[in-house]
Amino acid sequence: MHTCVILTGAGISAESGLQTFRGQGGLWEGSRVEEVATPQAWAQDPARVLRFYNQRRDQVRAARPNAAHRALAEFQQIAEVRIITQNVDDLHERAGSTQVLHLHGEIRRARSTSNPAFTVDLGEKDIALGDLCPHGSQLRPDIVWFGEAVPAIHEAVHWCALADVFIVVGTSLAVYPAASLIDCFPPEIPAFCINPDAAPSNLGSEFTYIQATAVEGLPRLLNHLAQNFQERPHEHFDCF
Ligand code: OAD
Repeated sequence: MHTCVILTGAGISAESGLQTFRGQGGLWEGSRVEEVATPQAWAQDPARVLRFYNQRRDQVRAARPNAAHRALAEFQQIAEVRIITQNVDDLHERAGSTQVLHLHGEIRRARSTSNPAFTVDLGEKDIALGDLCPHGSQLRPDIVWFGEAVPAIHEAVHWCALADVFIVVGTSLAVYPAASLIDCFPPEIPAFCINPDAAPSNLGSEFTYIQATAVEGLPRLLNHLAQNFQERPHEHFDCF
């Protein structure tokens, strides 16, 4: 089976009604990153940080996976699908994808402020000041804030090295180290980027650029790949 590695960003969830971060109407236009998404913000005003992420969590709960999330889940019947996502929503999982690596954490989980290894699924709950882990420390969102390490990046680099096809969907490639993954897949494999806007300036010429939304472009691309895989199941897949 071919291995398809997909790097997703906020754009894949845009057509599920979740705002992206940058650009017009983006989340970072309405909220200042430094006030809600940094360790300093948490130290200064944890109530504001919790309010911001509790709102995000409500929006994620109300959202539904779209045709792009579902197409990736269905593609698991054709290929080994490994999704590296910058998104903190759970729409890939709710669509049925089973191999999803969250680089920037998960909105539905809380983490202990004293022990990063302790995380808990919030279910339908929010996080409030005074909500404690079993060892008595305040719970915080299980989100990687700006200025914090990205522990999952090592596993992500390993996944990229396994790819027979690499696809980037719905990301501005503005945030590192996530954006550096576009340099980590084997050089001879086909690579695609789907985005309705102009190509991010750091995207290499080895990428076939598909200027379309995730919902328009991804099911079409995956259909095309599925045909190609079926026609040449045992060959190394090296052209599009
Ligand atoms: P951005 O908001 O930076 O970029 C979203 C990208 O999606 C843009 O390039 C849009 O052109 C594209 N886009 C918009 N609508 C789309 C659609 N319908 N289909 C496909 N693409 C679409 O979001 P990310 O690149 O994900 O980190 O941002 C990376 C990180 O920055 C996030 O994980 C978050 C943020 O700050 C943290 O919070 C730690």
